[in-house]
Amino acid sequence: MKDTDYTSIFSRFRGVEGDLLPILLRIQEKDGYISETSVERVSRFLKISENQIYGVASFYSRFRFTKPGKNTVKVCMGTACHVHGGQFLTDELGWNLGISVGQTTDDGRFDFQRVTCLGCCALAPVVQINDETYGRTMVVGLKEILNKYE
Ligand code: FES
Repeated sequence: MKDTDYTSIFSRFRGVEGDLLPILLRIQEKDGYISETSVERVSRFLKISENQIYGVASFYSRFRFTKPGKNTVKVCMGTACHVHGGQFLTDELGWNLGISVGQTTDDGRFDFQRVTCLGCCALAPVVQINDETYGRTMVVGLKEILNKYE
């Protein structure tokens, strides 16, 4: 991944507090996440504290602060999925991946996210890996599913 060109991103903005969200969106579009370095650079540019940036950005679920893995595993914890064993899937996925929700494996193969609904509640509980959706997912089949992804 190329280094973020902050000069090019910042040149489109006046450097006022209201620029925060659009700047973060551009950085995330380019890098796939908001790194600590990015927060530091934005903090200097907008003259607001890093804590303020984390506070605002973490309010929006679309911002992520960890580098994405090659494959993204999403476990649904919406009502239907929760009722049908979403927590068991979450625990088992975490155990198999060796990470918690919100983290990326050390080898960069997977990142692990929890979402509130994947829009296919009739298939609960649902796990999604990249663009592939696995409905009525059973804990016992998770390892085989994960093994499909390099
Ligand atoms: S609640 Fe899981 S897909 Fe809707």
